[in-house]
Amino acid sequence: MRRRDFIQKTAFASTSAMVLPNIVFGKKKEDKKVRLGFIGVGQRGHNHLEMALYRDDVEINAICDIDPKAIERTLNTCKSKGRKEPAVYKNGERDFENMVKRDDLDGIVISTPWEWHVPMALASMKAGKYTGIEVSATVTLQESWDLVNTYEKTGSHCMILENVCYRRDVMAVLNMVRQNMFGELVHTQCGYQHDLREVKFNDGKQVYGGGVEFGEKGYSEARWRTQHSVDRNGDIYPTHGLGPVAEMLNINRGNQFLYLTSIASKGLGLHDYIVKKGGENHPNAEVKFKLGDVVTTNIKCANGETIMISHDTNLPRPYSLGFRVQGTNGLWMDDGKQIYLEGISKKPHTWDNFKEYQEKYDHPLWKKHAQNAENAGHGGIDYFVLRAFIESIKNKVAPPIDVYDAAAWSAISPLSEESIAKGSAPVKIPDFTRGKWKTNKPIFALGDDY
Ligand SMILES: NC(=O)c1ccc[n+]([C@@H]2O[C@H](COP(=O)([O-])OP(=O)(O)OC[C@H]3O[C@@H](n4cnc5c(N)ncnc54)[C@H](O)[C@@H]3O)[C@@H](O)[C@H]2O)c1
Repeated sequence: MRRRDFIQKTAFASTSAMVLPNIVFGKKKEDKKVRLGFIGVGQRGHNHLEMALYRDDVEINAICDIDPKAIERTLNTCKSKGRKEPAVYKNGERDFENMVKRDDLDGIVISTPWEWHVPMALASMKAGKYTGIEVSATVTLQESWDLVNTYEKTGSHCMILENVCYRRDVMAVLNMVRQNMFGELVHTQCGYQHDLREVKFNDGKQVYGGGVEFGEKGYSEARWRTQHSVDRNGDIYPTHGLGPVAEMLNINRGNQFLYLTSIASKGLGLHDYIVKKGGENHPNAEVKFKLGDVVTTNIKCANGETIMISHDTNLPRPYSLGFRVQGTNGLWMDDGKQIYLEGISKKPHTWDNFKEYQEKYDHPLWKKHAQNAENAGHGGIDYFVLRAFIESIKNKVAPPIDVYDAAAWSAISPLSEESIAKGSAPVKIPDFTRGKWKTNKPIFALGDDY
């Protein structure tokens, strides 16, 4: 979600968090606090931790990061909220292995570069901890299987922290899908269309990052993410779009991804940006980027629907996840915030404004928790995703977005790379549920709880 536009969005997230009231739950199942540890307290991990600090039902007992500045900032944040100082793990890239062994942690939130997600999640699950991983959960197909196998062996739950599943309009559309307003679903579209060429952050006192540097000289995700554009050609960040439509299509629960094809345009955006900003003699003007600027992936589902996903992060463009949800009665489109439902819309062949439907079909979860959520990061969705993780721990139940979702949604990246490498050949998508999708029932956002 947040990237180039750190300036407004992240500043909003952190200042607005300050006006959030301490969140107390009406229906506490247990008085015991949920004890959390955080691996990776850079931009995203720090956001999660800030959200957690505003909850009375959470204790933060340990943090881990290899960057002393990230640790220092996080300790200051804990102190400024009057919380006790968490134990710190900062001794190298594998110190997380020591942190996960602590017996005063119920859950661990992982917000590190993608390539670290699975090694950290496996260690956490093997240590019996409830594990939350940022998106995408995995980089390789083997890693998706490793997550599933480790869950099945240990019984330790693992949630992919896909916040966009909780976007208010997306949840209203999910509610409408479940009420059959669109008829039988036929096609969906989604994507990650966000200009990420520059990574910059303004905390109100200082501007960090910016410019055309990446790797060691870069800031935040420019230190690691840009390298994926050098090494890979595929949809390297599919879950913000795919997660929400997978919930609407009941993937892993009555439906399944079958196969995909991917196609990539040429990749000019990053080189063009470096030359325009840094000049043609800038050392990074020599870097060859493998990633196509617009990668389009089409998935066929077992129940016959198609999903089109777009990855578009290296060209100038306004942000859009480009949702389209279409069935036998009509469709909703994110771009234009518009909807058309045959027999319901005011005029035939004419869009209605989605606003008119939003209130009527607002999801019960949002209706119940809007007040707590709306001032939190990314328009409230960060509140809901962390809340779901914490409530699942409290209630000792599977999370509403589980390890099979983490495995299947993230696997689209390596499979799209494979398809592109084979001239857009169809590639089979594994069934991580090993057939259980045929009898599994939906679990996501069934009521007003989580
Ligand atoms: N869901 C969302 O809206 C959203 C938004 C932003 C980022 N993210 C995801 O969050 C994750 C982190 O992204 P970010 O923007 O915070 O990046 P970041 O670079 O700001 O933070 C990553 C942190 O991990 C630390 N780290 C790296 N290797 C480590 C190791 N071996 N042990 C301990 N710490 C280590 C780094 O020092 C850094 O502080 C990524 O997976 C990203 O895709 C999700």
